[in-house]
Amino acid sequence: MIWLIGNKGMLGTELSLLFAERGLDFAGTDREIDITDPAALEAFANAKEAEEGKRINWLVNCAGYTAVDKAEDDAETCRRLNVDGPGNTAALAYKLHARFIHLSTDYVFGTYNRTGEKRPYLEDDVTNPIGVYATSKRDGEVRVMENTPCAYIIRTAWLYGKYGNNFVTTMLRLMRERDTISVVNDQRGSPTWTHDLADTICKMIDAVKHPTCLAPPPHNVPFFGIYHYTNDGDTTWFDFVRAIYHKARELGLLTKDCEVKPCSSEEYPSKVTRPDYSVLDNDRIRNELGILIPTWEESLERFLKELKQ
Ligand SMILES: NC(=O)c1ccc[n+]([C@@H]2O[C@H](COP(=O)([O-])OP(=O)(O)OC[C@H]3O[C@@H](n4cnc5c(N)ncnc54)[C@H](OP(=O)(O)O)[C@@H]3O)[C@@H](O)[C@H]2O)c1
Repeated sequence: MIWLIGNKGMLGTELSLLFAERGLDFAGTDREIDITDPAALEAFANAKEAEEGKRINWLVNCAGYTAVDKAEDDAETCRRLNVDGPGNTAALAYKLHARFIHLSTDYVFGTYNRTGEKRPYLEDDVTNPIGVYATSKRDGEVRVMENTPCAYIIRTAWLYGKYGNNFVTTMLRLMRERDTISVVNDQRGSPTWTHDLADTICKMIDAVKHPTCLAPPPHNVPFFGIYHYTNDGDTTWFDFVRAIYHKARELGLLTKDCEVKPCSSEEYPSKVTRPDYSVLDNDRIRNELGILIPTWEESLERFLKELKQ
């Protein structure tokens, strides 16, 4: 069975609904089984086996500390959740001979530090995180790989979806409340619908037919390691918000005008600098899983149409 950790978060909620819809055998937990407590994690796995006779052969970790600015004043908690927590779950996965999926972020790449050339980041590009959150996510990746050879680490970016606080629904609310909004136009990335990422995680699990991590992977099965997954294409936050505005107006989700103005990151001082370019190259996951990845524009439209229903 699959153990989905962090099942009440934005991605975790989407994933638990998809697992249920596809008839996958899974158990979901959130804060009640604290990932920073190795004994609690092990007790849960043992109880599943002893009481229900169920062996956990996948762990999917969607739990984490995701408040990027708050992390600057709360480094200890952030690192416990994003470094120690994934390390504990990875170690348990290895003990159980289970495969482990962990989520990471485009923010592991900070200011571009290679040749200055801006091109989508590959999985093995050198990381260069800025700030407490980004560094904790990079260190979490390292800890996971130290604790199990059977991990898939999926780096994603700019997530939005139906559940939890997210950028698209926040923007829609602001557009309803205000006549003008200013949005930064000097950060490039790839907005990603949680539904598409959750679907890809399901496909990854489906592609790997071997139940334990000790079996050697056959040719058509993705190898362990780091994968990038975002919706295809890239944009700035400003152009993303303009697209949200126009599509929402077209669909009748927004019934009043709102002017969307570009501004620079300097006009929005925050505790931590966001990368100005954090586009990820999706080719590894696309080729190994043989999947079609929707563009951010296509997925935004599908998401807004769903919101309308
Ligand atoms: N959101 C993005 O734009 C984005 C971008 C790139 C990568 N990611 C990564 O994708 C993953 C999922 O992100 P998300 O936005 O879905 O996160 P999220 O909504 O913040 O969900 C995280 C979940 O983990 C729970 N949690 C907190 N502490 C815990 C603990 N000690 N033990 C167990 N569960 C605990 C949280 O509970 P509380 O809500 O009660 O704290 C929450 O339900 C994260 O690894 C994140 O770093 C996210």
